[in-house]
Amino acid sequence: MSKSVFSADLLEGKVAFVTGGGTGITGGIARALAEHGAKVAITSRKMENLEPMKAEIEAGRGECFAVATDVRDFEGVEKAIAATVDHFGKIDIVVNGAAGNFLCWSNELSANGFGTVVDIDTKGTFNVCRAAFEQLKENKGQILNISATLHYLGTPMQIHVAAAKAGVDAITRNLTVEWGRYGIRVNGIAPGPIEDTEGMKRLLPPNLKEALTQKIPLKRFGRIKDIEDSALFLCSPAASYISGVTLVVDGGHWLTGTGIG
Ligand code: COA
Repeated sequence: MSKSVFSADLLEGKVAFVTGGGTGITGGIARALAEHGAKVAITSRKMENLEPMKAEIEAGRGECFAVATDVRDFEGVEKAIAATVDHFGKIDIVVNGAAGNFLCWSNELSANGFGTVVDIDTKGTFNVCRAAFEQLKENKGQILNISATLHYLGTPMQIHVAAAKAGVDAITRNLTVEWGRYGIRVNGIAPGPIEDTEGMKRLLPPNLKEALTQKIPLKRFGRIKDIEDSALFLCSPAASYISGVTLVVDGGHWLTGTGIG
């Protein structure tokens, strides 16, 4: 376990359900929650994408339950939630990290391509929140939605993702207003450019990395650990009066424009 500013028992007794929890940013969040005492269920479409993270969490003496599901399929999500409750007894924290992304000009994007990303990111986030509601209500739980900064301005070749993440932010705000009465907190994190992620590898041509670094006020890419720390904070009692916030963790990047040049 890398050095953490948070105590190792920060989330002792909590159970987290993390979609897209096998890899990348959300995989890091799942591992960080486990390293700080939570039992963690991770989901993805394919079991093979979950097994390495399950092994990593267990090697760190955390508890991990891997369950394959597609967040677009509400019945499948309900089954994954039920299987997690069977396995760990409850769910306190939901992290919605499952996402789809690719670069495509709007005039070349098919309707199905646009809809596919909205289905994964936005409908998938709703599906998981809705299916977990009874558990979150019973346990005065919380939701963490992984968003982006793409839709704060206009980001070329990302109309599908920008629309989908704007929907995710709307879900964060709406559920805050509706579910606060049950003691449920709903927040989000909007990561900027994060190194060593599938998204950056596929979305950013290597020759543009230096130009993008110079455009970020803090002059470096984010690290997965930056997002993990923000997730730990938002899931911790230190954030017990914070709801409806999407925390931007981007080194100030979006304020300079979301493009590269
Ligand atoms: N450019 C343009 N359109 C694309 C595309 C691309 N790179 N990738 C997918 N699409 C379109 C497809 O053409 C299809 O539309 P069509 O039926 O009109 O042709 C539609 O999107 C659905 O594609 P499909 O591959 O059948 O969907 P899927 O559900 O299997 O997977 C993604 C969709 C987005 C998840 C897929 O691109 C993927 O697996 N990406 C990698 C994972 C990922 O994005 N992680 C997030 C990192 S930030």
